[in-house]
This record gives sequence, C-alpha cells and structure tokens, in this order.
Amino acid sequence: MARTRSRGRTSRVGWASVLTMSAIALLGVSALRAAHDGPTGADEVSQAPSTAVTYATHVAPILQKNCQNCHQPGGIGPMRLMEYEDVRRWAPVIKARVVQREMPPYHYDTHVGIQDLQGDWRMSDDDIQTVVRWVDGGAPMGDPADLPPPVTWPPAGEYLLAKRFGPPDLVIKAAPYTVPAKGQDRWWRPAVPSGLTEDRCIKAIETKPSVPGRAVTHHANSTFEPAGSTREPDAVGGSGPGSTRLSEYALGKIGEVIPSDACRIAPANSNVRWDIHYYPNGVEIVDDQVEVGIWFHDRDVTPETRYRQTLGLYALQSGTGDFEIEPHGTLMTQGYRRFETPVRIDSWQPHGHLRLVAKRLEVLYPDGRRETLSMVSNWNPGWHHSHVYAPEAAPILPAGSVIINTAWYDNTARNRYNPDPDQWVGVGDRTTDEMSHAWIAVTHLDAQGYERLTTERDRERERR
Ligand code: HEC
Repeated sequence: MARTRSRGRTSRVGWASVLTMSAIALLGVSALRAAHDGPTGADEVSQAPSTAVTYATHVAPILQKNCQNCHQPGGIGPMRLMEYEDVRRWAPVIKARVVQREMPPYHYDTHVGIQDLQGDWRMSDDDIQTVVRWVDGGAPMGDPADLPPPVTWPPAGEYLLAKRFGPPDLVIKAAPYTVPAKGQDRWWRPAVPSGLTEDRCIKAIETKPSVPGRAVTHHANSTFEPAGSTREPDAVGGSGPGSTRLSEYALGKIGEVIPSDACRIAPANSNVRWDIHYYPNGVEIVDDQVEVGIWFHDRDVTPETRYRQTLGLYALQSGTGDFEIEPHGTLMTQGYRRFETPVRIDSWQPHGHLRLVAKRLEVLYPDGRRETLSMVSNWNPGWHHSHVYAPEAAPILPAGSVIINTAWYDNTARNRYNPDPDQWVGVGDRTTDEMSHAWIAVTHLDAQGYERLTTERDRERERR
C-alpha cells in the first residue's frame, strides 16, 4: 500500500529512487541499489536502516542548521526549504547537491590538509547520510508533533556576524553608484573618510552589499589610505605607500574574524578606498551602496601589544604575473612567496573566475619538507570563502618558509561554468578574464613569538 503510493509520487516528480523504509527493509540493500537511479547515481547507503528517517525528527533540524539561513523568504537561495511540502518537492536535487558537497556552498576538500576551520559550513558525514537515507526512503514526514520549533532568523540585509558580536562598532559606506541593467563590468573606486581618530585593532569585518545589489556585486575590496591621499588606485584596488588592506569581499563571502592575539590595524586619520566590481544582471539598481561593518577589539589590544596581522594578495611572483589559456586548453600556474621572518598563516581564500577549477596552498619548509595546507578541488566561481584556520590548527612557519599557490584552469567544454571554450582567456579584472591569486591573512612574528607559539602548541598537544 505504502509502496504503491510512493511509486505514484515518483512518477510525478520524475524520481525513481523513492521507496518507503518498509520497502527498503523488505527488499534489502542490493535491491535498493538496483532500484536507484536518482540524480547523482550515488548510492551511499551501506546498510538498511533499522529505524525510519523522517523529516520531522531527523531532517528538519539539519535543514535549520545548514540551509535555512539562505533558503528562506527574502534569502539568497532560489527556493524555500522551510516547510515539509517545499522540501519534499526538492528531495532528489537536495540529495544530489548535499552528496556532492555543493550545498551548503562551502568548497573545501575534506581529505586533504588542515580540516580544523572556524565558521566551517561543511555538513558532517552523518548528517549527509541522514539526508540520503531520508530521500532514498521516500522522504516521509513522520509525526508532525516531532518537528523542532521554527528558528527565528534576523531580517534580510542584517550583518550576519551581528549574531555573534552585536551590531558593528563602525560602519563605512561607499559613495552611491547606479548600476545599469545591462552592459559589461563596472568598477567603482570612491574614497570615504573612516572617521577614526585613534589606531584600533580589528576583531571582525563584514562587507555587506545592499539587498538589491548583492547579485551584481562581484567583489568589493577596501583599503585604508592616509587621509588626504589623492593617489589613483591601481588596477587591483591599490596598496600604495602608507595604505593597509581592510578587507576583501567576493560574491558569497560572509566575513572575516581576526585572532585575538593579533592586530589587523584600523589606522587613525584614514580614508577607506573602495574597489567595487559590479556586473550588470538585468535590473537597474539606483544609488547602490556597499558597506563594511567593523568590530574592534577592546582598547587594551593595541598595535603595540600584539603581532601585526596583514591580509595580502599572493599572486604569481615571476615577471608580470601574466598568463593565457588557449581555447579548449587547460593550464596550471604556480606562485611562490618566501617569508623572511616567522609567520602564522591565519586564513586562506582562493580566488579565480570561470575557468578556475582547483586551487591548492602548500608550504615548503626550510628543511625541505613540503606540506599541503589546504585544497579546493571543486571550485565554484559563485562562492568565495575565507577559510579561517582554528587557533590550534593555524600553521606556524619558521623564517625562510615558502608558500606555494597552485591553480588549475579548464577552458574546455567539460568545465560547466565555461561561457565560451572558443575564447583565449587572459589575466584581467573582468569576470570572463582570469585571476590566479589567493588572499592570505598572515600574522608576522619574530623569533621570540615563534618560540612562544610553538611551545604553547606543543603543550596543548600533550594535554589533549
Ligand atoms: C549561503 C547560502 C546557502 C546555504 C547555506 C545553502 N544554500 Fe542552497 N543555494 C543557495 C543559492 C544562492 C543557490 C543558487 C545558486 C547555486 O546553485 O549555487 C542554491 C541552490 C540550491 C539548490 C539547487 C536548486 C536548483 O534550482 O537546482 C539546492 C537543491 C539547494 N541549494 C539545497 C540546499 C540545501 C539542502 C542546503 C543545506 C544543506 C543549502 N542549499 C544551503 C544558497 C544557499
């Protein structure tokens, strides 16, 4: 009876993998495998579950935790995943996206390099398996009485880090800019007074496009410059004399948190120079304003009492940093940076556009050892993350270490994001050009600091 009903639903949604849990139990695993031809063809069910996985008990809490912040009315997700009826309709696609680790959108390899990250959106293997078993089991509701209470979400357009830190201490808005409905890429580089009268150490930063503007704001970088500076910024947003990088934002990124033992400086008497890249998307946006919210450390955290942390763009080091990818071709690029003093690597954010497919960060130690710190082998140009290493995992490198930044590009038709495999692709600012750099937050140590941090790290390891 139940099985007949499930089959009926199957044909409506074009989904042949629907079987009720009782049917799975009856048919056994091999029959389940044979019957399954879902969207991924992925069959991770290794044994028939003894208890039914239901929406109410098992799946709703997973969606609350991992999906609803975006898949809610007014959220950036294309559909709602708030109610059973909405979710059930999408069940096969949800399974596919979750198994491939494309949703939640956090692309970071799970079996290579440092796995201990802060603000990590990746789902646990257990939660992924629960979703798979639920979908394969016919996506049953279960008992509505078991549903968790709904989550109260902040209104669209609020700072996401406000949940953790309260409202920002300082908000700096770019001058307004009207983005046309159609046309090619636009750049907007206004300077705005920061209003800071003393040097402060930054705790967290979140760059926030406007709600209507978030789909067209491809990136928005910001740099502190000495007030009164009239210098025109260079092509990538500038880092002239006396200027320090405030933040980097690209489509999909949430924010940055700076470790409390380091100081990323917000200097007094400064302007914030914006470098905003808009990409018209069919709708005119009048007087759009990107803003950045800054949270400061307490005043006892000063540039004098902490090691300096910088956010830098680490690119190809040789020649002009130029490269070209031939039509229907592939390419690998590599960039190196040697650190003369000891450093701690606090975060890594790979950057690239539509032909980039994978990126890796390695370190070559002075003793010749080479180690992979992080890798993204399933790059998605729609999502950019600053992968912040957990305090106990952030690599501490001795003086003379070299970081190696490797990028792989695919300009063939096999790359699903490739808009035109017949084009030559060069380095440039446009979305259809390519880039090869990574943004890396580095705390600059001295011999003493290196000694202290590595000793603390060793002690902690022994304790655990
Ligand atoms: C940070 C925001 C965000 C989170 C978190 C998120 N999504 Fe998404 N999701 C999106 C956006 C934006 C898209 C459309 C663009 C894309 O596919 O990347 C999307 C697309 C999808 C699609 C494809 C829809 C289609 O038309 O094919 C599915 C399925 C999906 N999400 C499911 C989920 C599930 C399940 C979760 C949680 C496990 C989740 N998403 C978490 C933002 C998010």
